[in-house]
Amino acid sequence: MKSIISSSSDSYVIEGGARLKGRVRISGSKNSSLPILFATLLTREPCSVEGVPELLDITNALSLLRHLGTESYRVSESVYLSSERLVSYEAPHEIVRKMRASILSMGPLLARFKRAVVSMPGGCSIGLRPVDQHVKLFEKAGADVSVRHGYIHLSAKSLKPVEFDFDIITVTGTENALLLLSAVEGRSILRNVAIEPEVLDLIEVLKKMGARIELSDRTLEIEGTPFLRGFHHKVIPDRIEAGTFMVASLMTDGDITLENVNLEHLASVCSKLSECGAGIEELPDGSVRVFRSSSEIYPTNVNTQEYPGFPTDMQAQFMSLLSVARGTSEITENIFENRFQHAAELTRMGANISIHGKTAVVRGVERLYGTEVFSTDLRASASLVLAGLIAEGTTVIRDIYHLDRGYERIDEKLRSLGASIQRLQGEGI
Ligand code: EPZ
Repeated sequence: MKSIISSSSDSYVIEGGARLKGRVRISGSKNSSLPILFATLLTREPCSVEGVPELLDITNALSLLRHLGTESYRVSESVYLSSERLVSYEAPHEIVRKMRASILSMGPLLARFKRAVVSMPGGCSIGLRPVDQHVKLFEKAGADVSVRHGYIHLSAKSLKPVEFDFDIITVTGTENALLLLSAVEGRSILRNVAIEPEVLDLIEVLKKMGARIELSDRTLEIEGTPFLRGFHHKVIPDRIEAGTFMVASLMTDGDITLENVNLEHLASVCSKLSECGAGIEELPDGSVRVFRSSSEIYPTNVNTQEYPGFPTDMQAQFMSLLSVARGTSEITENIFENRFQHAAELTRMGANISIHGKTAVVRGVERLYGTEVFSTDLRASASLVLAGLIAEGTTVIRDIYHLDRGYERIDEKLRSLGASIQRLQGEGI
């Protein structure tokens, strides 16, 4: 298995101008794989997860699981795991700081041990990322929770089913609640839950393990059991990777056919892409062809919302696209408080973007120009790659370990479509 070698100072060098054409296979979903890997902590029986992408976040999740005592190995796209004998209920800072989704170990560890000690995930560049909703749910289910020296300590004499309303819609908050309550005897009701496809994929797994779960609107009914079984599951395709390649096709005036895509998960993204001039065709074999159906890219307005609204994880990619549209667009980021850092880097490439609170006003320009830019977070890095693909000249993107977290072999995939992109180890040029 090729392990992910990712040094923090690696760079991508991109020569802009190629029109991307050909077929690309989209990997399995990162944000579906992560909670499902942590679900294996809930059973002593063997589990297998198919379609798990080879990403830094996945490597980090597997190293946390190994730290807890889970045995795992990968054969191609499948990961086999056994949590028959766990040796710890502590998720240490040196692992959690590298992958904040480690917070998803809290629910399963509390269910399994009635104890959990998980490092505070800390903020990241897109926001403070509090976990108050996770903690509130755990307390309602009977846990005593205290935060000491940067660690969240949870313990419970016994756990009980709950009726709980989330104050805000939170993806991993909903997932942590599902992971805990699926293992707690009795009927729980959760309201105002997140319904992202990745949450629904986790629900499918928990039902295979023996929990009974019903979803209607944003209300979940869970009949939990402490006797959860092992499972096999194939994760859904990564809708954000797919959306990113769709944007690449429109931006480069290319013609890309994507394999392993579920268009139902991309309705809001496809509707915006069509507004901007994309042609999107579902082919008989289930693949999806994306091309530019108009002579230019049209402006549009984007408002990020919880699913099924326009996903915040596609906001940065659309900012790249709209920076070369024929007109002015407005992008409003409603989910995270600091997710416009890519704007400054795009501006250095010649984009015309002004930020007013939660809204970025993007005035389309004729072209972007290659220069040295810095990645700040996963999706911001993707927006810089997209900009580099169409920029005049050479773009050097630093700190691309951010990309390794969420895009499997993106340089290989782009090269196979005709892009000129090379990875430079270390400081390189
Ligand atoms: C998940 O993060 C995803 N990560 C994110 O993807 C995604 O951007 C986000 O959902 C929104 O869709 C994973 O699934 C591993 P939230 P999560 O809890 O669960 C606030 C990527 O690019 N909030 O839905 O952490 C929070 O600050 C990543 O792959 C609280 O206030 O996001 C944010 O403003 C980036 N209290 C909003 O809710 C809480 O207890 C939504 O956050 C929890 C969240």
